[in-house]
Amino acid sequence: MKAKIEELLARVEQFAPRSAAEVEEFRIRILGKKGELNALMEEFKSVAPEYKRELGQRINALKNAATERVNALKEQLQNAASAAAARIEDKSRPGSAEPLGSRHPISLVRNEIVDIFARLGYTVADGPEIEDDWHVFSALNFPPEHPARDMQDTFFIEKNPDILLRTHTSSIQVRTMEHQKPPIRVICPGRVFRNEAISYRAHCIFHQIEGLYIDEGVSFADLKQSLLYFAKELFGEKTAIRLRPSYFPFTEPSAEVDVSCSLCGGKGCNVCKGTGWLEIMGCGMVDPNVLEANGIDSKKYSGFAFGMGVERISMLKYGVKDLRLYFENDVRFLHQFDSAL
Ligand code: PHE
Repeated sequence: MKAKIEELLARVEQFAPRSAAEVEEFRIRILGKKGELNALMEEFKSVAPEYKRELGQRINALKNAATERVNALKEQLQNAASAAAARIEDKSRPGSAEPLGSRHPISLVRNEIVDIFARLGYTVADGPEIEDDWHVFSALNFPPEHPARDMQDTFFIEKNPDILLRTHTSSIQVRTMEHQKPPIRVICPGRVFRNEAISYRAHCIFHQIEGLYIDEGVSFADLKQSLLYFAKELFGEKTAIRLRPSYFPFTEPSAEVDVSCSLCGGKGCNVCKGTGWLEIMGCGMVDPNVLEANGIDSKKYSGFAFGMGVERISMLKYGVKDLRLYFENDVRFLHQFDSAL
């Protein structure tokens, strides 16, 4: 009988059910009225008195162990079932959308400008931000004493030979002319650096997009039409442009480009300071000296170039009053461009 008790105890301890039904079945088989435990109790009645004490204790211990095990297993299986139920999702529930990031307004405008010129056949060219004197100044016909070379304007990294942060992306145009023969049609976006005091309208870092077109027979009329197309695409069909004579070392003739103020339609407002016009870029016919310095025959080829500040265009397009906002990356500012993807 002792052996039977031991065997039953071992079965109780090793019992590993997979479901609550199996536990119940086990309970009935062991602890039920006609179960194995009661059968043992029956047998116990006829045990010799000298063994009764010890065997009685063993049967009691077995009964307690079996009851405890059954209860514990029931609880365990029930918890697992309710956890599984909680995990079943309501598939018809509307999903929670991930908040979308937004593109920086400088990227938005840059992409838009690049797209417009891409439609005119321009490809994007890139170049380094750390440059040498040749690519930023000398190859572009800057005389040695030109004020832009001055420490006041340019951030120098090293002197003699000069290594500096590019002050305009015209350096990319020089690099393009170095390894590409005309026809050349490139647009050069990038960051530029000038030693200027930071204010609502200026920063020591800003973004430019410059363009260069060189081929046989390129004329000032081509320049004007390209820029008119660009202005209409960017600011709307009604936009007009006007060119004012200007000076750049690398273009001759040179001009500043104004667009009619899209806010007041040219009547005059506080954005255009009552003039009806907004200055957006510089341009001109590539100086023959620049073509020659870059190994292009200036008798055969001519070209035009233009350059604009992306912050300025973005300010005009979105009515941003302070240029510093573009660099602070305050999400309250950036989130206003969420839908402008
Ligand atoms: N490189 C000039 C600037 O940085 C812009 C420009 C480019 C002007 C090409 C004329 C032609 O201001």
